[in-house]
Amino acid sequence: MIEEQKPNNSTETAILPMQCYQQPLFSRVWEMPNSNTFDIKCISRLIHKYHKSEMISIDPFANKNRIAKITNDLDPEMKADYCMDALDFLKQFETGSIDFVLYDPPYSPRQVSECYKKLGKTVNMETTQASFWGNLKKEIARVTKANGIVISFGWNTNGIGKTKGFEILEILTVAHGGQHNDTLCTVERKISGLFD
Ligand SMILES: C[S@@+](CC[C@H](N)C(=O)[O-])C[C@H]1O[C@@H](n2cnc3c(N)ncnc32)[C@H](O)[C@@H]1O
Repeated sequence: MIEEQKPNNSTETAILPMQCYQQPLFSRVWEMPNSNTFDIKCISRLIHKYHKSEMISIDPFANKNRIAKITNDLDPEMKADYCMDALDFLKQFETGSIDFVLYDPPYSPRQVSECYKKLGKTVNMETTQASFWGNLKKEIARVTKANGIVISFGWNTNGIGKTKGFEILEILTVAHGGQHNDTLCTVERKISGLFD
């Protein structure tokens, strides 16, 4: 007779089915790379899954993209609603006033340097150290409403983060083949805020 397997008292307990459903949704798709992130079809689909037309939405690094209601880009050629440094753009908004944020900044210090040099801007320690992204995340956390959604794009899935009151709902990794890095898309919801 086969004996029923009973859980032992080991601390390495298996994940209960209930806990599985509490994990974020995770998917991986292959698609060609594109410097206009939101032109990648699976990424566009992900954005539209969460973005609703009635939302107050912002995109501080919009490039030519116009999904969000209020757009900004440092490059004047992009003709976004605002042409400001993203941090100053975010500082204009009241605390807890935004439903939806698209956060698609340069992904590395090298990309910041390339972009700033192209626009004739000064590249210094401030523009290329971790605080460049840290300060932006702080502002995004401040302006986002409770239950508001932020989708972050880059080479990591840190998003805005748990310490700033966000929980991850979904992660999409887009593989591009060859030696390309994946584009990682992290969808988060604000559950409580340091600034509420
Ligand atoms: C990764 S691209 C965004 C692509 C866009 N999401 C799309 O799908 O086309 C980053 C953009 O941020 C802009 N940018 C770089 N540094 C900036 C800054 N400090 N403030 C505002 N915009 C900035 C660049 O001009 C570039 O258009």
